[in-house]
Amino acid sequence: MDLRSRCHPGQSLSVAALPFTVLPCWSGRVQVASDAAALAERVATSLAQALEADPGRILGLATGRTMEPIYAALVRQLGAWPAQQQADLRRRWRSFNLDEYVGLAAGDPRSFAATMRQQLGDRLGLGQAQLRLPDGRAADPNLEASRYGQAIADAGGLSLQLLGLGLNGHVGFNEPPCLGSAACRCLELSASTREQNSADFGGDPAAVPRLAITLGLAEILQAQRIILVVSGGGKARILRRLLQDPPDPALPASWLQGHPGAELWVDTAALGA
Ligand code: GLP
Repeated sequence: MDLRSRCHPGQSLSVAALPFTVLPCWSGRVQVASDAAALAERVATSLAQALEADPGRILGLATGRTMEPIYAALVRQLGAWPAQQQADLRRRWRSFNLDEYVGLAAGDPRSFAATMRQQLGDRLGLGQAQLRLPDGRAADPNLEASRYGQAIADAGGLSLQLLGLGLNGHVGFNEPPCLGSAACRCLELSASTREQNSADFGGDPAAVPRLAITLGLAEILQAQRIILVVSGGGKARILRRLLQDPPDPALPASWLQGHPGAELWVDTAALGA
């Protein structure tokens, strides 16, 4: 089966075309792009369309390598909007990120706050109050987690949540085992996640902060629409489990299966093709 050759730019394959059986709940909700660049472009286009329809919608944003080309494409696509429309978006933008390392100040280049400013905020001309993240330097991280979860609820909840997938099946920093009812909290990162994210810390997993604040599945699942993006052959094993195994605390992303507005956007490499 040559998925790549059957996957033309801008087109989607049905799950029936995939080289393995997929849970029925994913039927019609999987978008397959030929490669990582095409995937980023298409996800960015979908985000831009959503923002065009409602520039004030509350976005839930993620960090990570999967998001980098998506934000680059989004900045480029939004930059082609008429000036007045761009100004309106700049004025109305509101987003909340999924997570932040405990112990890193927003000014620390390794923080997710700095990443977001660099990849999106500075390029779109957004103020700090528009691009919100948990405060990694809060004196009481548990209290900060409750405050952050409440701030999202006060804003009316998330409209569109963008997600990447951890190698161990985490979304945000919801490490396994994790229930679908878990709320925003401070937690300990797993060894595999610290290893996965060590590149930003000189390649040393021990240098990656031990704790993080993350939105829980509870807040994520309240979003009206969820876009989970999975790219690259390194994710093929975990993606296949997500497509084939029923909801299970051992695979936190599996709780998305029951969400009517959850979409899976992948490239052929992530499908092992
Ligand atoms: C990280 C982040 C997630 C991210 C995921 C995948 O640890 N907390 O929000 O989506 O893992 O990361 P990557 O895209 O770099 O593979």
